[in-house]
Amino acid sequence: MKKLVKISLLALIATVSINASEMGAKELFDAKCAICHKTTMPKDQNSVIAPMAQGVMFHMREALKDDAKIKAHIEDFVINPSKEKAICQSVNRFGLMPSQKGVVTKEELSKIADYMVKTFNMTPQGHKKMQQGMQKGKQNMFNQIDTNKDGKISKDELVAKKGFMANIMFSRIDANDDGFISKEEFLSFRGKKGKMQ
Ligand code: HEC
Repeated sequence: MKKLVKISLLALIATVSINASEMGAKELFDAKCAICHKTTMPKDQNSVIAPMAQGVMFHMREALKDDAKIKAHIEDFVINPSKEKAICQSVNRFGLMPSQKGVVTKEELSKIADYMVKTFNMTPQGHKKMQQGMQKGKQNMFNQIDTNKDGKISKDELVAKKGFMANIMFSRIDANDDGFISKEEFLSFRGKKGKMQ
């Protein structure tokens, strides 16, 4: 009887620790990366500060193909990011990712990179769909903000929907400075660097 209890206890410990190491990678990613790299399509495209995890991995795979090379690139880039090394075009939209040195250890990063390679798979069709989904989200948002339905957004309309901070955003999105945001300006606005591109 005693032996049985011991064995089942051992089995329990084994399963728990397997689960912990499996969970570990996801939890690490969620805690250290998902704050910026979302894994589900955010509702508000203009509040996005980094490319989606699936999008990042799509470009990694297109460029590097091999899982080991992708892992090595992630492990290097996260600690020593540079514009020259960046594979995703996102660096033009969001600016360079801040180095995560001191935020993740080497071991954690290795786990995270492994998890990303295993978890985020996206076909070219899936990637296209994601981009279309993002555009559609922006279209819907434009229609929501344009409360008087005149096909353009005034500063008052933007502030009414997005709050005080929208005052600052307005002139950035209004690329030709005519005092209104046209649908084209809204759809082509790409985050904080939009006007400088
Ligand atoms: C503070 C926000 C932020 C955090 C936290 C963050 N990233 Fe990023 N990351 C970005 C931005 C912005 C970009 C796009 C610009 C660029 O490539 O530098 C990016 C790009 C990337 C890229 C693409 C590199 C390339 O070659 O184009 C990878 C891979 C990546 N991040 C991995 C990670 C991992 C793994 C973590 C967690 C350990 C993480 N990031 C945490 C903001 C962040």
